[in-house]
Amino acid sequence: MLLIDAGGDTTRNLVGTGMYELLKHPDQLAMLASDPDKYLPTAREELLRWTSPVIYMRRSVTQDVELGGEQLRAGDKVVMYYGSANRDEEAFQRPNELNILREGERHLAFGGGHHVCLGQWFARLEIDAIMKEVLLRLKDVELLQEPSWMTSNFISGITKMPIRFGS
Ligand code: HEM
Repeated sequence: MLLIDAGGDTTRNLVGTGMYELLKHPDQLAMLASDPDKYLPTAREELLRWTSPVIYMRRSVTQDVELGGEQLRAGDKVVMYYGSANRDEEAFQRPNELNILREGERHLAFGGGHHVCLGQWFARLEIDAIMKEVLLRLKDVELLQEPSWMTSNFISGITKMPIRFGS
C-alpha cells in the first residue's frame, strides 16, 4: 500500500502540476522543451520544490525541545509543511520565483531524516521519462481552462486540465 500510494499519487501529481506551472511560464517551458536532457535535471528539482506534492507529514515529539523559538513538549503532535520549507527565504534565493535553472539549493519535497522518501530516485527516473515524452511529443501546448484541484489537504494535485496541442 505504502509503495503504491506513496509512489503513484505523488509522482503523477508532480507531473500534472508541473506541466500546469510550466504552461504558466511559457519561456521556461520553451527552454525545457528545446533540450529536455540538458534542462530536466534542474527543472525536475525546481518543479518538486515549487509544487511540493506532499503537503505535510506529522510527527510526535519524543522529548521536550525548543524549535524555532517554540517550546515543544514530549507527546505534542506537530506537522511539517514541505511547501513552507521549500519557500524558505534563508534557504533559497528568490524563493517565490520558478526558476528551472536553479542549482545548489536543496529542497525538501522528499522530506528528510530517517523517513526521507524511499522512492525518491525511482520518482526522479519516472518524472524524467514522462516529462521528456510529453515535451517532445506535444507541440504548442495551450491551456484551455484553469484546472480543477483535488480535494485534499495531504497531496496536492490536479484532477482535470483541458489542453490543446498541435501535431
Ligand atoms: C514526486 C514524487 C514523490 C514525492 C514528492 C514523495 C514525497 C515523500 C515524502 C515527503 C516522504 C517523507 C515522509 C515522512 O517524512 O514521514 C516520503 C516517504 C516515502 N516515500 Fe515518497 N515521494 C515520491 C515518490 C515516491 C515513490 C515513487 C515511491 C516508491 C515507489 C515512494 C515511496 C515512499 C516510501 C515507502 C516512504 C516512507 C519512507 C519511510 O517512512 O521510511 N515515494 N515520500
